[in-house]
Amino acid sequence: MLKSATLKEAMEVWSKPERLAFATSVDSSGEAQVMTVGWFTRSSFRPPTLALVVGRERRLYRCIQESNEFVLAIPGEDQAQEILICGASSSADVDRFRQCRFITKLGNLVKAPLIENCLANFECRVINQVDAGDHTIFIGEVVSAWIHERPTANLMLVGLESGYKVLAEEGPYRVGVVRHHD
Ligand SMILES: Cc1cc2nc3c(=O)[nH]c(=O)nc-3n(C[C@H](O)[C@H](O)[C@H](O)COP(=O)(O)O)c2cc1C
Repeated sequence: MLKSATLKEAMEVWSKPERLAFATSVDSSGEAQVMTVGWFTRSSFRPPTLALVVGRERRLYRCIQESNEFVLAIPGEDQAQEILICGASSSADVDRFRQCRFITKLGNLVKAPLIENCLANFECRVINQVDAGDHTIFIGEVVSAWIHERPTANLMLVGLESGYKVLAEEGPYRVGVVRHHD
């Protein structure tokens, strides 16, 4: 039976699990930023597009505004700690690329860097943007895509249910994968 709940309670149900990714972009001087995102989705087959939701105070927001490009990189199970480094602390305090020891790679068609070891990378050019409140939805056309030769499990933001294996944890954030019973 349904019971009335606060928005926070209902969103807890919604967001556990939530797929996670890294988003990269460059500013007008070519300097790259990387940030953890949970708010993204496929948004069209033709043309192929992805929607990425970015808070307006984020450094990545300015980069995307300046370059009109981003890369969405899907992490594997060995990148749980990196997801927290790029999401749970400000990029003003750390050089995330160095701290995560990311190996970056130049894409085919955009200046935003690809991240090696990710399961997939999508190079996107912004074709539209929508003001959604305190966040902006960037619609990116996927102009080039990459996959890893040896994929692992997909990382997610998870709750305390037993169906997930928690790989890294900080404050309210638990990052993990689906638990296998074999
Ligand atoms: C699990 C997780 C998911 C996040 N998802 C998003 C998101 O989809 N969009 C967004 O703007 N910020 C998101 N954030 C917050 C940003 O990652 C965080 O505020 C950002 O790294 C601050 O970066 P900055 O100091 O470079 O602006 C998320 C954080 C975490 C831990």
